Amino acid sequence: AEEESDSAVESEAEEAPAAEWVEAGARTVAACLQPALPGAEGGSPGPASPARTPTAPSAPPAAVPIPARPPAKPAVFIPVNRSPEVQEERLKLPILSEEQVIMEAVSENPIVIVCGETGSGKTTQVPQFLYEAGYSSDNSIIGVTEPRRVAAVAMSQRVAKEMNMSQRVVSYQIRYEGNVTEQTRIKFMTDGVLLKEIQKDFLLLKYKVVIIDEAHERSVYTDILIGLLSRIVSLRAKRLLPLKLIIMSATLRVEDFTQNQRLFTQPPPVVKVESRQFPVTVHFNKRTPLEDYSGECFRKVCKIHRMLPAGGILVFLTGQAEVHALCRRLRRAFPHARARPPEEEDQKDSVEETRKFKKSRARARKAQAAILPHISLDNYSVLPAGEGDEDREAEMDDEEAALGSDLDLDLGDDGADGGEQPDASLPMHVLPLYSLLAPEKQAKVFQPPPEGARLCVVATNVAETSLTIPGIKYVVDCGKVKKRHYDRVTGVSSFRVTWVSQASADQRAGRAGRTEPGHCYRLYSSAVFSDFDQFPPPEITRRPVEDLILQMKALNIEKVINFPFPTPPSVEALIAAEELLISLGALQAPQKAERMKQLQKSRLSCPITALGKTMATFPVAPRYAKMLALSRQHGCLPYAITIVAAMTVRELFVELDRPASSDEELATLKGRRARVAQMKRTWAGRGASLKLGDLMVLLGAVGACEYAGCSPQFCEANGLRYKAMVEIRRLRGQLTTAVNSVCPEAGLFVDPKMQPPSESQVTYLRQIVTAGLGDHLARRVQSEDLLDDKWRNAYKTPLLDDPVFIHPSSVLFKELPDFVVYQEIVETTKMYMKGVSTVEVQWIPVLLPSYCQFDKPLEEPPPAYCPEKGRVLCHRASTFYRVGWPLPAVLVD
Ligand code: CDP
Ligand code: MG
Repeated sequence: AEEESDSAVESEAEEAPAAEWVEAGARTVAACLQPALPGAEGGSPGPASPARTPTAPSAPPAAVPIPARPPAKPAVFIPVNRSPEVQEERLKLPILSEEQVIMEAVSENPIVIVCGETGSGKTTQVPQFLYEAGYSSDNSIIGVTEPRRVAAVAMSQRVAKEMNMSQRVVSYQIRYEGNVTEQTRIKFMTDGVLLKEIQKDFLLLKYKVVIIDEAHERSVYTDILIGLLSRIVSLRAKRLLPLKLIIMSATLRVEDFTQNQRLFTQPPPVVKVESRQFPVTVHFNKRTPLEDYSGECFRKVCKIHRMLPAGGILVFLTGQAEVHALCRRLRRAFPHARARPPEEEDQKDSVEETRKFKKSRARARKAQAAILPHISLDNYSVLPAGEGDEDREAEMDDEEAALGSDLDLDLGDDGADGGEQPDASLPMHVLPLYSLLAPEKQAKVFQPPPEGARLCVVATNVAETSLTIPGIKYVVDCGKVKKRHYDRVTGVSSFRVTWVSQASADQRAGRAGRTEPGHCYRLYSSAVFSDFDQFPPPEITRRPVEDLILQMKALNIEKVINFPFPTPPSVEALIAAEELLISLGALQAPQKAERMKQLQKSRLSCPITALGKTMATFPVAPRYAKMLALSRQHGCLPYAITIVAAMTVRELFVELDRPASSDEELATLKGRRARVAQMKRTWAGRGASLKLGDLMVLLGAVGACEYAGCSPQFCEANGLRYKAMVEIRRLRGQLTTAVNSVCPEAGLFVDPKMQPPSESQVTYLRQIVTAGLGDHLARRVQSEDLLDDKWRNAYKTPLLDDPVFIHPSSVLFKELPDFVVYQEIVETTKMYMKGVSTVEVQWIPVLLPSYCQFDKPLEEPPPAYCPEKGRVLCHRASTFYRVGWPLPAVLVD
């Protein structure tokens, strides 16, 4: 699969059209994105006319007017050879009876909205309707975007299977991998992938139809795509190469799309798919909401399992750790469903596994010698000497639980759990489901449970709309959801568990009525429910938008504020994004006075710089893109790419801070935590390398893992998340390709293995990181500032009044350097900086001039002629902006 992905990355690069083309397309569209409506903005009306002409008031209703009518749809019908079983299943789907209505609407209108309950067949069937109607003839493609990777992969597989076609024809592309070929006719992809394609080919000429699926989720990229596509559709119509846009939503709340005059001058028609939903009886808890909703879920599932007729159970919890804790508890309380007896095959497998494991251990030892010569082998070894396979088993157990693997097969400790009553009745087939779960394991929920067992899926809200699990009759809803919350001003993020919206709660309940009448147990009272928000807020209003703004500026959309967002981000968020991009050098800094004027009028219109354009080609956030753009020097590229890839892929280490359900588990967890801490120290090294801090840990972990062949065993033994390591490898490949295309003379190879950086390279890397994370600088509180105890060991950042601390999991936790940059601040019990690296104070005015205030030239030493620069330079004292931290004097022009 990995090889496949590499070639996918390459083929993506090959598909890139000529650069001039993109420019031309981008310019045209930028023109069209000028205010299309009178009064939207006081900007110059000039270039807007092409977009306006077609918006004649006399245009027919219900269709977005386009000047030339698209040529009539070719009267083709491409037969699909489905199996009788598939055909029978399809006919049960409500959407089948709407096929004609949908296809007529699509043929007569450039933009159509399709609404229907989850499970009505939108995602799997609409692409097939289009295929049969010839929308992929002439080698063009039917594109479908999904906000979640899981859905893009699962749906492409499902549709290929239904159509009896290979994945060479019905394919997917997600950030790290894909199986798209020349023959691909239906392409499922994440919304981010299509956004990148728009950068290369603004008119999306290889598509005849684009379907934006799950638009109700209102993911940021989905929103942007809808804004862009609303314009691309009219541009394509002008060229007589019509593009159809289908927006699909699971809820009827589509006003943000239909009632938005900046988006669609005429509201597009909405086709509603009546769902054949069975009634779901909703049961509220009488009691006030519980703190221990997880325990309440457990009791509810037990009750259902013991007392109610057959039918799958779907439990909604908020996070991975909770999901696992409940899965364990359930597995202990009920007999496991044994999928198949442990046959010889399995034993052979395990012998093979052990052999491989031993081999990988030997390789790891060698690797250690290669990458970290100053550390003794024992520190690095996968197993401490003397401890045998038992230990490994215990760990695998734990690890597997963390990765949600086959614990359902047999753990051998049925009912061993103290408080829980073992139940010998019906076996239960317990499966976890969450987005970080490995895809093969996710796919298990679609398979029927073993004979005679009841399926119980414990899920996060991924099961809310994008995936439909067959056979669910009971839903247990804790009513909560965990979301990352960003503070708009300070950028501090925290995970918050909050009540879901009414719409989400109803979606969850609906999962119980897919195949027969069902029941939904809400673990909260109806009074609480009536206080829920009606709908969840769109993502774009909840997170920083600098990555979007950079992408949009790269598409020559200068006046971002005029962009037809379905829901615009706040002006504050737009300003914060522009400011960051200006200080990174991605946007041209206006004169101070000019900027003040812009800000007063909220007219954000800084153009992109050459550096910004380069940064926009890297598929990572702007701060990281800046690091990549700087790292051509001193052979730092492979390391910077690795660090950036590792910072981009979240949660490199397996979550070990979860609460343990038993003493043994606690002991295992403690042991594993200690080992991970030790490995981190090993990877961070000492002296110069330790100064790169947690980013050195990332580099060391990836380096060591690659030397060990990136094996699951290696990851397992060292507390690394295997899936993350595979993603990092892929992203490194992709970033290397991106860097090579910007800078062919770099001639980088996609070679996962690398020598450790030299001491001076580590220093350069620290400087590169400082330049990228300049707005994340923190200074240790000086002893004279220590007003009270809460500031002990604390750091101060320019934007926060409260103390922040180095996270205990950081290798710099005890080092307490004077200046650091951090990847992010996460608020838990305190505000903690994660991903910390040390900064030398004298670098700040040199590397981060846009954050510094330079004072008058100093009298001493006097100005001097600099022969290299051919100019007179003088020393100036400087301070860090806003907070006025004194910095050393620097030589400036
Ligand atoms: O997109 P929408 O939620 O409207 O429905 P869908 O995803 O197209 O699913 C239609 C039906 O196919 C559902 O009833 C699912 O149970 C079924 N399906 C499945 O069994 N396995 C999959 N991997 C995907 C869908
Ligand atoms: Mg769907």
